[in-house]
Amino acid sequence: MTDNNASATRDADRVVIFDTTLRDGEQSPGASMTFEEKLEVADILDELGVDIIEAGFPIASQGDFESVFEIAKRVKNATIAGLARAAAKDIDRCAEALRHARNARIHTFISTSPVHMKYKLQMEPEKVLEMIASSVSRARNHVADVEWSAEDGTRTEHDFLCRCVETAINAGATTINIPDTVGYSTPQEYEALFRMVRERVPNADKAIFSVHCHDDLGLAVANSLAGVRGGARQIECTINGIGERAGNAALEEVVMATRTRPDALPFRTNIDAELLTRASKLVSAVTSFPVQYNKAIVGRNAFAHESGIHQDGMLKNAHTYEIMTPESVGVSKTSLVMGKHSGRHAFKEKLKELGYELGENALEDAFKRFKDLADRKKLVYDEDIVALVDDEIVTA
Ligand code: KIV
Ligand code: ZN
Repeated sequence: MTDNNASATRDADRVVIFDTTLRDGEQSPGASMTFEEKLEVADILDELGVDIIEAGFPIASQGDFESVFEIAKRVKNATIAGLARAAAKDIDRCAEALRHARNARIHTFISTSPVHMKYKLQMEPEKVLEMIASSVSRARNHVADVEWSAEDGTRTEHDFLCRCVETAINAGATTINIPDTVGYSTPQEYEALFRMVRERVPNADKAIFSVHCHDDLGLAVANSLAGVRGGARQIECTINGIGERAGNAALEEVVMATRTRPDALPFRTNIDAELLTRASKLVSAVTSFPVQYNKAIVGRNAFAHESGIHQDGMLKNAHTYEIMTPESVGVSKTSLVMGKHSGRHAFKEKLKELGYELGENALEDAFKRFKDLADRKKLVYDEDIVALVDDEIVTA
């Protein structure tokens, strides 16, 4: 077993990154990927240093089976996981898809909340417990690495959740995931939930606990990090935060939060952060899901500054307005965007970059014309500035 295998990872501060871009991410309405695109995404996830790649849901379709099968064959480092409901046919199909993986994980789940058991499963809690035991032990007969998830875990009654977790661990689960399936939890609640389960379940230390958060209230990353504070050591996340409805916790955000604030979040991941931008662009291209301009870490404005005060600060010292360097996430440099909020300092620097050195009066004149233009246009491009200065030189 490699260090990538969650069950082998007992280093107290190490958090395992379980990427589900190819499974939960692909469940975003409209985000489906072709077979070849999935292989490309799997390759970059492996290069990125993701510990576990959830490659798909093999029983869901022949296409899903084939992509999990192929990814399991080609990926060199990461553990490959496949999803399976608590049904024998799902679990056996999943095991078949993972046959050639160097490290394989079966991820099986069942709902545990009152609303899901009553309406979705139409099953009594005792029956759910039986199914947990049988599904996990069936998965364990195929592979040593089995993850069990309590779907809708955050809306599950606490005593019952503890019984479910204990049953899953007794049946051989090595990772226990308590998802916030509908993005309902808050950081305080989610942290307390992990503490409570880990304290009350007698065999809790035999498994690694995992967070899986959806972003319905915009709390997926905060909740994930809170769960880690509560003792979880695996984060399930996706590139660009794609996923069901409002999406999942964004991988790039959890990774950079731990890297930028080790004082507040003393956890480490194995991710090569310099590849984050490339991975984000690839996932955006293959899913045709644009990344919002102001998206943390990978949005096009994440390292762009327009206001005069900020540009002036940045030109004096980048620490004034940047808490991480663009290079650290694979962006070549900070951009000072020229617009109506830009000041003289940035304008003068831009002129220098474009090869112009103007005297005081000419500079003042050009700056005034630039401001007039910026009032009419949203953004002023380099060509606009060149035209404006050339015009200034001719008319002077
Ligand atoms: O959100 C969820 O509960 C899931 C499970 C299948 C893990 O995606
Ligand atoms: Zn999910």
